[in-house]
Amino acid sequence: MSDKNATDIYKIDSLKQFLGNYNPENMALVVDENVYKYFGEHFEPYKTFIIPSGEDQKDLSTIDRLIKFLLDSGIDRHGNIIGIGGGVTLDITGFAASIYLRGVDFGFLPSTLLAMCDAAIGGKNGVNYLSAKNMIGVINQAGFIGYYYPFLETLTDAEYLNGMAEVIKHAIIDGQEFIDFLKEKHLQILSKDISVVQDMVNRSFEVKSKIVANDLYEKGKRKLLNLGHTIGHAIEVSSEYTHGQSVSIGMVMAARIALQKGLCTRETVELIEDLCTIFHLPVTLQTEADELIKSIVFDKKRKLNIIDFIIPLEPGKVQIMSINVDEFSEHLKSILHE
Ligand SMILES: NC(=O)c1ccc[n+]([C@@H]2O[C@H](COP(=O)([O-])OP(=O)(O)OC[C@H]3O[C@@H](n4cnc5c(N)ncnc54)[C@H](O)[C@@H]3O)[C@@H](O)[C@H]2O)c1
Repeated sequence: MSDKNATDIYKIDSLKQFLGNYNPENMALVVDENVYKYFGEHFEPYKTFIIPSGEDQKDLSTIDRLIKFLLDSGIDRHGNIIGIGGGVTLDITGFAASIYLRGVDFGFLPSTLLAMCDAAIGGKNGVNYLSAKNMIGVINQAGFIGYYYPFLETLTDAEYLNGMAEVIKHAIIDGQEFIDFLKEKHLQILSKDISVVQDMVNRSFEVKSKIVANDLYEKGKRKLLNLGHTIGHAIEVSSEYTHGQSVSIGMVMAARIALQKGLCTRETVELIEDLCTIFHLPVTLQTEADELIKSIVFDKKRKLNIIDFIIPLEPGKVQIMSINVDEFSEHLKSILHE
């Protein structure tokens, strides 16, 4: 087994060449169905488990089937399991690999922008349970992450923008330079100009991995990565907004709550709104406040009536604010009715 604190990072030019480095007898690929549809020829000689597209695959029954597949394929404890797909596929792969034979080596080839900039990094693996998201899992870092940028060519615009919301979040956490980069290069980024996208993914990777390196188990600063997600998650489960759209509105609402509390300026709120808008992400919500508040109250992050809510103060300065649920609800109601 490799050192669990060290993740090797590769830039991959040829999938065939990269996969050729592994013993095909003792390696299994776990591949998202759409990735298989577009890139399947590269995986043909290998033992491959295909994950149908969709968040509903992230459950214990998929883990059960995958473990049976690994067993039937004769993968032993010296084997390698490689997840190739978006966050759903990687979360499933990392979890199954971490518990199969008490843990075998695994790596990721993220195929969505969100997975490249976020889900592949930081060791959180797991599945949903009943209606609770990411309820069962482990923290265990992948042995490697391989970046193969042609994956992004077949990704839909909606999925690409889901990833952009996380990139914007990382830029707000990081500071003005990353924000200026996104503003300046937004047209190239939107048209998936690969050299610019690579630069953006590298920057995003650095922001998340630096935070994770100092707080793998989310006791402190890793919580900052939840910027936009407490409200965003509530929006996502109670509306038709995508994950990225929900996070975008969540970040803007977090900034507006910070403004109400006198903790950030209107310029910061506008900066976040502008950044989301140039990447075609919404910044306001059309829904009933009560539904949203109810979802937040049931959010798993709530502890003893207190929410650890993340607010932006200014570019590069983001803070955890522990706030009473009732006070939080009042702020939400007031910004939703502004
Ligand atoms: N572990 C973590 O730290 C972490 C962080 C963020 C998100 N996540 C998890 O990640 C999941 C979301 O990930 P996601 O946004 O990548 O979604 P996803 O894995 O569901 O993929 C989105 C869609 O894109 C398709 N797809 C994937 N790659 C493609 C490609 N190259 N070309 C065409 N289509 C492709 C998939 O089939 C799917 O329909 C959630 O379950 C979330 O909880 C985990």
